[in-house]
Amino acid sequence: MRTAGLFAGIGGFEIGLARAGHETELLCEIEPAAKAVLEARFPAVPSYVNDVTTLARIPRTIDLIVAGFPCINLSLAGGKAGIEGKQSSLVQHVFRLLEGRRVPNVVIENVPFMLHLDKGEGLRVILRTLERLKYRWAYRVVDALGFGRPQRRERVFIVASRELDPRDVLFADNFGQPPPTPLTKKRASGFYWTEGIRGLGWAQEAVPTLKGGSTIGIPSPPAIWVAGVGAFTPDIRDAERMQGFDPDWTKPAETVARSGHRWKLVGNAVSTLVATWLGRRLASPGRYEPALDLPLVEGRTLPIAGWSTGHGAHAAVSITKWAAQVARPPLMKWLEFPPRKLSFKATRGFLERSMRSRLRFEDGFLDDLRRHEDSMREPEVATKRASAS
Ligand SMILES: C[S@@+](CC[C@H](N)C(=O)[O-])C[C@H]1O[C@@H](n2cnc3c(N)ncnc32)[C@H](O)[C@@H]1O
Repeated sequence: MRTAGLFAGIGGFEIGLARAGHETELLCEIEPAAKAVLEARFPAVPSYVNDVTTLARIPRTIDLIVAGFPCINLSLAGGKAGIEGKQSSLVQHVFRLLEGRRVPNVVIENVPFMLHLDKGEGLRVILRTLERLKYRWAYRVVDALGFGRPQRRERVFIVASRELDPRDVLFADNFGQPPPTPLTKKRASGFYWTEGIRGLGWAQEAVPTLKGGSTIGIPSPPAIWVAGVGAFTPDIRDAERMQGFDPDWTKPAETVARSGHRWKLVGNAVSTLVATWLGRRLASPGRYEPALDLPLVEGRTLPIAGWSTGHGAHAAVSITKWAAQVARPPLMKWLEFPPRKLSFKATRGFLERSMRSRLRFEDGFLDDLRRHEDSMREPEVATKRASAS
């Protein structure tokens, strides 16, 4: 398919789709650092647009629009303004463009909090609009962890089409169980050192979802606790690999932004592995057999998968978030670049928050972190002294 990538970020959809044989003809992205990555990684794309609000129409040649629109107003951290929020309402421009030209296929991606916020009203607005524009649609929460990389990452994917049955794209691959958690002597667990009060984002032999922001404002890497050893943060190049990019994919961003900004770009991106899977299924749909699918109920939190072929919206009751079930190696073995030790300051901040929280922690976790804090105290003071002198 010939594709237009709106809100293209660093091109997660586009590189993933390219691996499935599709071609990007238009890229639309407003942020300078993301644009620097796109221009370096997709030099042959004929058409670049800065701001989606200025894009007048979609070219005739395009048969697929992909759009991971800004999720800031839809996420827990973003103030919950919902689909009407200034950032997230940019999705309305996708519909404006579809009013102008009914592009045959559309894929939209966003955070799964959309299913819960205001009883799923944001997602319902999108689905109703697609229906009015005479698209068949299916949506599904997919966890990228199923694709064999050590990152938990749930996202909602909506596939809308005027030529395919979107259920045969989105539901054809379905597993009842998550991929197996690798067994190791020294267990590694991912968590957010920036959290500690309400949750940790705990993940076994994986990291929690890489994010474009954090509760302390700046985008930051997750931490990894290795039982009996200490706490670390992965290298940005391994974070890029977790999302299915080549290492240093976002390096060109450093021409216009600080290197730490790359965490935001990677955290905002779509998993390229999920994009490739979608691309393959768009090119070669499977078969979905609806069994007991019941009508979707208004005014209730939405189920993790649903569909409509024009005769009412249904819940896809047998569909799970596992579209793949690929086994992965233990997290620390999977990393290619040396992780850094979690800093004294980060460890201390986390431990302080954990004291005030009511969370339950795994046996040995806090003791290990206290030991880690002690071991980091002296070297950091020494390093500061050395750099000052
Ligand atoms: C959730 S990210 C999408 C990431 C992308 N799917 C990827 O794989 O990297 C949303 C993107 O929309 C961009 N954006 C925000 N406002 C925009 C606008 N008015 N026009 C074009 N892009 C915009 C942001 O800069 C951000 O990169």
